[in-house]
Amino acid sequence: MSWEELYSSAFKKVRDNIASVGRVLLAYNTNIDAIKYLYGRDLEERVNKEGVENVLPYSEELPERITSVPELLGSILWSIRRGKAAELFVESCSTRFYMKRWGWDELRMGGQVGIMANLLGGVYGVPVIAHVPQLSKLQAGLFKDGPIYVPKLEGGKLKLVHPSEFSGDEESCIHYIYEFPRGFRVLDFEAPRENRFIGAADDYNTNLFIRDEFKSNFEGLADSSELAIISGLQALTEENYREPFETIRAHLEVLEEKGIPAHLEFAFTPDETVRREILGLLGKFWSVGLNEVELASIMDVMGEKALAEKLLANDPVDPIAVTEAMLKLAEKTGVRRIHFHTYGYYLALTDYKGEFVRDALLFAALAAAAKAKLGDVRSIDDVVRAMDVPVNEKAAAVEGALVKEYGMKDGIGEIDGYQLSFIPTKIVAKPKSTVGIGDTISSSAFVGEFALRE
Ligand code: AMP
Ligand code: GLC
Repeated sequence: MSWEELYSSAFKKVRDNIASVGRVLLAYNTNIDAIKYLYGRDLEERVNKEGVENVLPYSEELPERITSVPELLGSILWSIRRGKAAELFVESCSTRFYMKRWGWDELRMGGQVGIMANLLGGVYGVPVIAHVPQLSKLQAGLFKDGPIYVPKLEGGKLKLVHPSEFSGDEESCIHYIYEFPRGFRVLDFEAPRENRFIGAADDYNTNLFIRDEFKSNFEGLADSSELAIISGLQALTEENYREPFETIRAHLEVLEEKGIPAHLEFAFTPDETVRREILGLLGKFWSVGLNEVELASIMDVMGEKALAEKLLANDPVDPIAVTEAMLKLAEKTGVRRIHFHTYGYYLALTDYKGEFVRDALLFAALAAAAKAKLGDVRSIDDVVRAMDVPVNEKAAAVEGALVKEYGMKDGIGEIDGYQLSFIPTKIVAKPKSTVGIGDTISSSAFVGEFALRE
């Protein structure tokens, strides 16, 4: 079958079955994304004002966190030069104020939990329970209608309500998203690809603050769920990870005991200690989702420096290096499913077999193309309309390498007892924005897989 045929048949299968998926528990990070589409002249003027020599060092090497405006601007340049995403905590009040005054073009739902809640609950109709660390009116207003619930204590009793009925006005956790298109020019740099830099002006998600309603009722919340997706560990640091990790470990034990498959949405995690700790927890997850920068950063803490470099050396990313890295990760941790996504293709390594793994990836790629095209996926019809987006041509060479190395056929191969599933993705030439596409991919593929299993 051609890839177009495989796409179309996978979409139909997932659409017809997605309503059969039970509740998905989503924890922990939800925030507001203030999206700013960058202008070269504006950015250049800002860099000049701070002094190019003060800014440029951070475009060579990212700071650990942002404590000044030159660090902010240098970090934005770091992303632009490489066409790679990055996210850092903004510690200083004055830099937060600078960002606020710089402004934004659009406010959107942010955080893995928020984005996935709107997609799964608001678009696919799959019921979700979401952890929202702070529920301001602004935050509540960004949730779509649909079976999206947050726990609320009323007279000592726990109720599940739609965020719009939570009626608390807590703080707004704002992440400033600096988006740039491919070919974006500033100083002597040109972005090889569209992407974004995120400055998180947020003290809750960055510390992985977990609400009491959630902590003290976790068993009950888990009981009513069929699947779980965990995210938001990325902003933790060596200083603050211990307490939240204890809670997460306890939550994972509850999920494991109840046989609820949990997916970890890995995200760019600058702190090495935290990355190592996450690696130690991976075995408790059924599944993990990540991109090339994230996979390389894990190889790095596993001592696989050469492999880490290889993952970042080529465009498109070398699929044999990716497979090697996924195998090492699966063998070290015991995680049952690794879903790798990069610009142009996805790979999944699973310790179980079946076409449904590949079909779920195809569904996810359609959802991703819809998200790239529109910025927001409003309905399942938006997803099917992405069928018009062409399949990435560069992925043919990637597929060729996989066929040669692993005898892959129709995107399915076998290696060391694992199934390796591959799909070429649909690439939107001029995406509206890039933020949240990874979450769209991972949640659609994970939940899509369970829709097809039943
Ligand atoms: P992340 O960096 O984890 O948010 O994931 C971004 C992912 O989005 C990439 O790995 C690509 O697979 C996908 N992606 C990025 N840009 C586009 C685009 N223009 N069209 C379709 N998919 C895209
Ligand atoms: C991270 C960011 C959040 C963004 C999300 C998109 O969680 O903190 O602002 O919406 O990634 O994937």
